[in-house]
Amino acid sequence: SVGKSTNIVWHECSVGKLERQKLLKQKGCVVWITGLSGSGKSTLACTLSQELHALGYLSYVLDGDNIRHGLNRDLGFKVEDRAENIRRIGEVAKLFADAGIICIASLISPYRLDRDACRALLPKSTFIEVFLDIPLEVCESRDAKGLYKLARMGKIKGFTGVDDPYEPPCSSEILITAKDGVSPSPASMAQQVISYLDEKGFLE
Ligand code: PPS
Repeated sequence: SVGKSTNIVWHECSVGKLERQKLLKQKGCVVWITGLSGSGKSTLACTLSQELHALGYLSYVLDGDNIRHGLNRDLGFKVEDRAENIRRIGEVAKLFADAGIICIASLISPYRLDRDACRALLPKSTFIEVFLDIPLEVCESRDAKGLYKLARMGKIKGFTGVDDPYEPPCSSEILITAKDGVSPSPASMAQQVISYLDEKGFLE
C-alpha cells in the first residue's frame, strides 16, 4: 500500500563488511550500555571511545540524550516512544556495526523486550550488553541534572526508577557494579569492556 515499503529488493555491493573489517583491522559490533539515569552510561561510552581511539580502533557513540536532539526529536518518554527510540538506535547501531565500526550505544533502554529486539537485529555475538548496575540511591544522590529532584516533586512524570520501571538484564555480557555505593572509575569500566572485546576477537 502507499506509504509502506513494498516491491523493494536488497542490493549487495562488492565491498562488504568483511572487506571493511580487514581495512580497519577490527570487527564491527554494538556495545549496548543500559542503566538508570545518572548511572554513568555517557561517561563510560565516551571514555571507552577515547581509549579505543588511543589504541587505534574506530568507534562511534550513539547516546540517547544526544540522538533525541536530532533523529529522535519527535519522541518522548511514553512506553511506545521509548520503544521507538530504542528501535531506531538499534537499527542505526546495526548499520555502524556493518560498517565495521565498534558502535557504543548508551541509553537507559529500560525494557528487556526492546533491548532483546535490538540484540535480534545483530549477527550472533556482536551485540554486547553492558549493564551498569548502579543502585537508584547512588544515581539519585548524584542527580547531576537535577531530574530526580524534579521527578520526586512530581514535576516530571514517568521518570525511570521513580515512577517508571527499569527491567535489569538477566544475562548481560558485561556486568558493572558499585562497591559500597562507589562506582568503578570510568577508566576501569572502559578497561573491562576493552578486555572483553579483545578476548572475543573484535580487536586485531
Ligand atoms: S530511553 O528510556 O532509553 O528511551 O531513554 P534515553 O533515550 O536514554 O534518554 C534518557 C535521558 O533523558 C532524560 N529524561 C528522562 N529519563 C528517564 N525518564 C524520563 N521521564 C526522562 N525525561 C527526561 C534524562 O536526562 C536521561 O539522561 P541520562 O543520560 O540517562 O541521565
